[in-house]
Parts: sequence; C-alpha cells; structure tokens
Amino acid sequence: MLIIMRKELKLRINMKATAAAPSNIAFIKYWGKKDEKLRLPANSSISVNLSGLKTTTTVKFSKEYKQDKVQINGQVNKKESIRVVEHLDRIRKLAKIELKAKVVSVNNFPKSSGLASSASGFAALTVAATSAAGLKLSEKQLTILARLGSGSACRSIPDGFVEWIAGKTHQSSFARSIYPAKYWDISILVALVEGEKKKVSTTSGHKLARTSPFFGTRLKNINRKISLIKHLIKEKKFREFGQLVENESLEMHAIMLTSTPSLIYWQPATVAVMRHVRDLRHQGLPVYFTIDAGPHLFLICQNSDLTSITERLKTGRFIKKIILNRPARGIILTSNHLF
Ligand code: DP6
Repeated sequence: MLIIMRKELKLRINMKATAAAPSNIAFIKYWGKKDEKLRLPANSSISVNLSGLKTTTTVKFSKEYKQDKVQINGQVNKKESIRVVEHLDRIRKLAKIELKAKVVSVNNFPKSSGLASSASGFAALTVAATSAAGLKLSEKQLTILARLGSGSACRSIPDGFVEWIAGKTHQSSFARSIYPAKYWDISILVALVEGEKKKVSTTSGHKLARTSPFFGTRLKNINRKISLIKHLIKEKKFREFGQLVENESLEMHAIMLTSTPSLIYWQPATVAVMRHVRDLRHQGLPVYFTIDAGPHLFLICQNSDLTSITERLKTGRFIKKIILNRPARGIILTSNHLF
C-alpha cells in the first residue's frame, strides 16, 4: 500500500502536460453576463475555431516550485498571472493537490497585434493543467471549467463550429461542437489594422452591456437569431449567413457604443475596411465582416472566392497584415513541451 502511495506521489509531483488551442471567432456574440463570477453569459453564442491563431501552453506541477511561475510570450506579467493562478487554484482544488506550478505559454499571433488571446489561452491552460494534475474530465466538463477562466475559452475546446449553450447554472453552461471543421469550405481572413492597444478589457466591457437601452431588445431576439444561424450553417447558405454575421457584429457594437460609459473599439482604419468589404460585395464578391472588442476585422468568404478577395484586399494604408484561417479542430494535447 505504502509503495503504491509513494509511486503515485512520485507520479503526481512530476506531472507535466502541453495543450495547443485554437482561437475562435463568434458569429453570434457573447456580450454581457448574467453571473460575473461564474461567467454565465446573457445569451448563447456560436463560433468557429481558427486554424491560424493558436496558443500552446505547458504546465508542470512540482514540489520543486515554492510558488507559481507564469510566463506568457516570454514575459512575466503580474496582472495576467493573477488570473492564471486563480484558474490553477480551481484545478488544484478539483485534483486535491497543493503543488505549485510552472506555466509557459506562447501565442503564434504576431506580437502586439492586439488580437485577443484569452479564448485560446484559457482553453490551453485548462486542458494542460487538468491533464498535468492527473484529472480525467470529459470534453463537456473541460468547457465548463475553461469558461470560469474566460467565457469565450469554452468555445476553443470542441471541434470546428461550436455552440456555447448559455445555461442558467454552472453545470448547464457549456460548449459543444455542432459541425466538424471540414463541414464548410470557408475562410476567415484576419485583417489587422493600425490601432492603439485595447483600453477597456472585455471583462470590464461585459459589465456595461446592460446600461445600453438596446440590450433588452437584443436579448429578446437572440434565440431566434441563433436558430437562424444554425439553419444557415446547416444549409450552407453563405450569403444569408454572412449578412446575419455582419449584422450581429454591428448589433454588438451598437450595444457597446450606446453603453454608459460608451465603448468605441473601432479605429478609422476599421471603418475604412468595413466600407471596402461592402464595395467588394457591390462588385459581386460575397465577403462579410465581423469585429470583436478591438479594431481588427475578421473577413469571411467562401474558399472559391479567396484568391479574388485577397488580391483586392491588398495590405497598405489600412490593412497592415492579413492572417488566413480555415475552420479548425478544437484543442489537442501534444508532447511538444515548451520546457
Ligand atoms: C467580444 O471571453 O474575453 O470577443 O469572459 O470576461 O473573459 P471574459 O470575456 P471574453 O469575451 C469575448 C467577447 C467578444 C465576443 C465573443 O467572443 O463572443
């Protein structure tokens, strides 16, 4: 018995795992929460994983460590570390361990692009840390846990096209795949534009949603919108789908713009690219935009139109860089450890 316990202890103090998670972009957005602490969203959301934006994280629990060490993109940042350590605490509690951890995380996004990394970041942290701690959780349970770190992180765990069911309780708010990545031949081009670093974090922004006089109207219509988008994805009706995605993004920004205080995430270049996308449509090219809490645009098109669209979207005055994404599978565990 004692030998078995020792063996187990030895295993437990050398536990290391690495996960690679895609970022995701929402077609129907998560904006506003009904429970801050549990990160229960005001509404369900629908997204797709992005093949070109990825976070890889290695976590090791060991008795060698006297405190948690967190390194993100080669840097130690106190503010970011606090949120990571809170998440490690949740996982330690579940695994009934007290060992401190070393966390090393890297994004493949271009440096200082201002692209959000909390979705892929907390998804990778959840899966690497639970695996390193020896926990065996189902995909559903992993999404529930990742949600506590950052809401949108739950959508980076399942494959391809994903639905996050809002739910009313901790256990009923989870994400699941609705279609695999290969289901639909679409591309998502991230158009990076010039812009200052995000001033209001999404976590602070969510709190303001209810101050918009239009938030109630949004919630009244949202379930209908979710059913419609699922139908359009199922039927692969690209133009109607694109139009709905674009309208939805503008609706979220209308909530942001009319909150108190008001949130303006766009830069002049953002609006210039929005107009450019509409011009392309007038020229007969079906391409649609969606924008999160930042100045960059996510342009969605069918693969058959990709060459014509990228040729016309030349980088230059407004677009600094384009990152090509295809729908991607969800998170994976890998043996390519970062340390
Ligand atoms: C605009 O998931 O970053 O990207 O749960 O507070 O960490 P927290 O918020 P977060 O919010 C994402 C908001 C969004 C829309 C979306 O991805 O659905």
